Amino acid sequence: MTRQLYIETVGCQMNILDSEMVVAALRKQGYTLASGAEDADVILFNTCSVRQHAEDKVYSALGKLRHLKETHPDKIIGVMGCMAQKDQQLVIDRAKIVDLVVGPGQLHRIGELLDRVESERRPQLALSLDRTAGARARIARSHETFDPLRDPEMRPNPYQAYLRIQIGCDKFCTYCVVPMTRGPEQGRAPQDIVAEARTLADQGCLEITLLGQTVNSYQHRTGATTTRLADLLLQLHEIESIKRLKFVTNYPNDMTDSLLEAVRDLPKCSPYLHVPLQSGSNQVLRRMKRGYTVEQYRDMLERIRATIPGAAVSSDFIVGFCGETELDFEQTVALVRWARFKNSFIFKYSERPGTKAANRLPDDIPYAVKQRRNNELLAVQSTISQAENQAFIGRDVDVLVEGPSKRGAKQPADSASLQLMGRTHCDRIVVFEGPSPWVGRVLPIHIHAATPHTLIGTPVLAEAGA
Ligand code: SAH
Ligand code: SF4
Ligand code: F3S
Repeated sequence: MTRQLYIETVGCQMNILDSEMVVAALRKQGYTLASGAEDADVILFNTCSVRQHAEDKVYSALGKLRHLKETHPDKIIGVMGCMAQKDQQLVIDRAKIVDLVVGPGQLHRIGELLDRVESERRPQLALSLDRTAGARARIARSHETFDPLRDPEMRPNPYQAYLRIQIGCDKFCTYCVVPMTRGPEQGRAPQDIVAEARTLADQGCLEITLLGQTVNSYQHRTGATTTRLADLLLQLHEIESIKRLKFVTNYPNDMTDSLLEAVRDLPKCSPYLHVPLQSGSNQVLRRMKRGYTVEQYRDMLERIRATIPGAAVSSDFIVGFCGETELDFEQTVALVRWARFKNSFIFKYSERPGTKAANRLPDDIPYAVKQRRNNELLAVQSTISQAENQAFIGRDVDVLVEGPSKRGAKQPADSASLQLMGRTHCDRIVVFEGPSPWVGRVLPIHIHAATPHTLIGTPVLAEAGA
């Protein structure tokens, strides 16, 4: 019997990957994808808890489904991901219409759980152990996600894929829920990672992005050997058909010289590093328990610039963290001006129950101040992004063509030429005109204009697609 599945995903790349794997697993059980919740037998939300706003969105979407569930009680509604792990039974009590709650470490059980909802006619919960629940190894095991079951059709395009190399996080930044929702840090075995990469390559994948909350802290021990990220990159680099390797997210303290040298020496490694700084004030960094000072971050950035010429570096910032003064904020602005990040993701601090910051530090910056600082920092970063992109005008860059741009998606797919988008090796977005068979190729594009987020170009060879 084919059953229809509808899935909505919010949150980080980990969640996008988890959803892909859930869909692949359920397809094997005979599910097909529905285009909307109304047509589906099973409706799943893959959720995020990193900020309140992400949770509010899911509760509001669930609220909108109440009528559908009341009129079609056989439809199964499931909540998976970080909010499921964090709120547990509360999700069922609050949303009233939820039949299934599955934490990110328990997703391998989703098929069996859906069957149980049907046969037992009562809500099912599958959660990983709490971080204080006992022996580390047992807790870690309960957060292990299932082995990859990849369905190439689920990837937004067949040429790119995420590959998880690390589960969980042990850094315990005071504001952050991730160590609780994703459990202890664990590096996956290198042989499993390489095998998964080979499967992806066989499916036609050209670019792999390795995922970990602190991906450059990756390590895996077998006997006397420790494999680190640089070793892994070397092994993955040998897979012939893979053209590009990226990895996110980096932790500033673990940016070793040997990793930077690997990125410099392995041509398939993208000269692009996402290394969140979070704040430019030492007082704030200390209260966040980030484990480094502004001076150490600056040294790290200088090492990156000295080792990998032309490297694009990007960052995350939280504005309005507990006790952030105007002076603290100005220090962040000054650092952003100095660092010249390719781009920065800027977030307003959102207090998360259960974190150290929520327990010990008052969330004392008014929302309007957070908003103003957010806008101010965005404007500063935007000017820098514009100037950095402007420097590409007149240059030819190699672009991995990902598909139609937003505008191209509205043009007929069989047009002789549509607006396509792709990325440079250093992760800059490029748009240009070309025929759709160019998707999945790496092509030289001549850049003639730039905005803060996009380079605009023309193909160097009109016959490049021939
Ligand atoms: N592991 C990654 C990213 C984790 S979440 C890292 O350490 O960099 C992604 C980003 O969300 C973080 O970098 C941080 O900037 C932001 N973030 C995390 N918790 C937050 C909170 N409570 N409020 C606002 N932003 C938060
Ligand atoms: Fe959260 Fe810090 Fe871990 Fe990143 S390193 S996931 S911000 S605790
Ligand atoms: Fe959100 Fe969980 Fe990712 S809290 S950011 S989905 S690890």
